[in-house]
Amino acid sequence: MTGFVSFIGSGPGDPELLTLKAVNRLQKADAVLFDDLSEGVLPHVREGADLVSVGKRAGRASPRQDHVSRLLVDYANAGGHVVRLKSGDGGIFGRLEEEIVALTDAGIDYDIIPGVPSACAAAAAAGIPLTRRLTARRVQFVTGHDVAGKLPEDLNMAALADPQATTVVYMGRRTFADLAEMLMEAGLPVDTPVLVAVGVSTPDQSLQRSTIAEILPQLRAEPPARAPTLILYGALADG
Ligand SMILES: C[S@@+](CC[C@H](N)C(=O)[O-])C[C@H]1O[C@@H](n2cnc3c(N)ncnc32)[C@H](O)[C@@H]1O
Repeated sequence: MTGFVSFIGSGPGDPELLTLKAVNRLQKADAVLFDDLSEGVLPHVREGADLVSVGKRAGRASPRQDHVSRLLVDYANAGGHVVRLKSGDGGIFGRLEEEIVALTDAGIDYDIIPGVPSACAAAAAAGIPLTRRLTARRVQFVTGHDVAGKLPEDLNMAALADPQATTVVYMGRRTFADLAEMLMEAGLPVDTPVLVAVGVSTPDQSLQRSTIAEILPQLRAEPPARAPTLILYGALADG
């Protein structure tokens, strides 16, 4: 009998940020395919279940997406309940769509259990809201790199340079200095607050408040942190 797949958002790292529904699914799963940033929740998986790492490891490239989708289909076709763990919320920069398409093409049913997005966890860790009445009426989550790891070419600069939005840049540590220059050229005030949030909710967490002009030379000079990094900017409240 064909199996069933649950996509589960594992949250930003702290296992206590996992939902109860996710814990229940993990305890019943026959196989769990997980990304590196999801490892912290694996203790909830029952003994005897198959644990399959499909994430990027230091020194080796991450498996190709079509390989991961194939694995997922194969495990589901073997029967039982398969959990696909994705960090944060699986629907945010999580390649969820590719895996849904693979399951649908193979006639395999699935459900999606949301997780705490790292953007929300970063704001919470800094003690600030993502929206603010009157000054930040809009939140935008954007990626700082395209499929080749470069700053995307089709950036909506008017939206990104809007000082009345809170912008959260995912995967943007390497490209943010270039983006910051473009933002200031597009009119974003140089004293716009910035929060660099590294390893949010993990033992490596670090939060740095700055401004867009001040952070630029630092980002150019320092090698990127090894832990995952988010950059928030806009009308950020004082935290
Ligand atoms: C492939 S995306 C996955 C995002 C995830 N689905 C989410 O909702 O947060 C990975 C990127 O998310 C961000 N990220 C994930 N977890 C993080 C954390 N604990 N602290 C800071 N940034 C994090 C980083 O920008 C990282 O490069």
